[in-house]
Amino acid sequence: MRLKNKVAVITGAGQGIGKVFASAFAAEGARIVIADVNSGAGEAAAKAVRDEGGEAIAVTTDVSDERSTRDMAAAAVDHFGTIDILVNNAAIFSTLSMKPFDAIPVEEWDRVFAVNTRGTFLACKAVAPIMRERGYGRIINISSSVVVTGRPNYAHYVASKGAVWAFTHALATELGEDGITVNAISPHGIITEIPRETISDEGWRRNLEEQAIKRKGEPADLVGAAIYLASDESRYMTGQTLSLDAGLRFT
Ligand SMILES: NC(=O)c1ccc[n+]([C@@H]2O[C@H](COP(=O)([O-])OP(=O)(O)OC[C@H]3O[C@@H](n4cnc5c(N)ncnc54)[C@H](O)[C@@H]3O)[C@@H](O)[C@H]2O)c1
Repeated sequence: MRLKNKVAVITGAGQGIGKVFASAFAAEGARIVIADVNSGAGEAAAKAVRDEGGEAIAVTTDVSDERSTRDMAAAAVDHFGTIDILVNNAAIFSTLSMKPFDAIPVEEWDRVFAVNTRGTFLACKAVAPIMRERGYGRIINISSSVVVTGRPNYAHYVASKGAVWAFTHALATELGEDGITVNAISPHGIITEIPRETISDEGWRRNLEEQAIKRKGEPADLVGAAIYLASDESRYMTGQTLSLDAGLRFT
């Protein structure tokens, strides 16, 4: 029960990695706010946590919208009294189609940044005052190994996650005095229940060649690090990005 009575807001937790984090954090005693733009998925994920014996609510949230992130924070405080942990997991990711950089429409570039990068910023902006007031907080951003590998054909995604990595370092320097740590997790390829175009059989073959640990990653492989970063055990660590990448050759 390393997160006993902590309140954790997890964005984009209606499916995939975020959904697994929600269940795992609840099993460690946290009360969960699932903040996903997909209301149906968010509600179902919250119900799944409750069915497992945990406490969770879903708050429909578009992280790219400032008012929506403020409402998210207010709903969490209304329901659970405070916010101790924020996981910025929401992203445009599994819905992306691969294309050369010069085939990316400007609108698509902007939308990926609006959700992945601005969304991370806005959720932090909405939650930080609540954490500051109590002098305690844990912020966990989700970057990606593609920042270091520079994987081709989704340059907007790669760049948006590079910005998240850099933002993590910058924000840590501003929030340290307030007892708030800001760290990131950088996963390599992780299989979830959601099919996606960004990972082909050929892509996996290359991934496994480049990994020291020769198996495909799954969300459960990230849970230990996420709980560590969300707990008191990581209190002297901030501004760091943990690479959970099976020992990828580039990192
Ligand atoms: N799966 C991987 O291999 C992998 C690797 C590295 C990093 N990541 C990162 O991990 C995180 C989770 O990955 P995943 O595979 O579960 O992704 P996913 O695409 O399956 O899930 C993303 C979730 O974010 C939600 N979302 C999208 N736009 C939103 C918005 N505007 N506001 C709120 N919620 C929104 C979606 O509804 C969805 O529930 C993402 O940040 C992704 O970039 C994933």
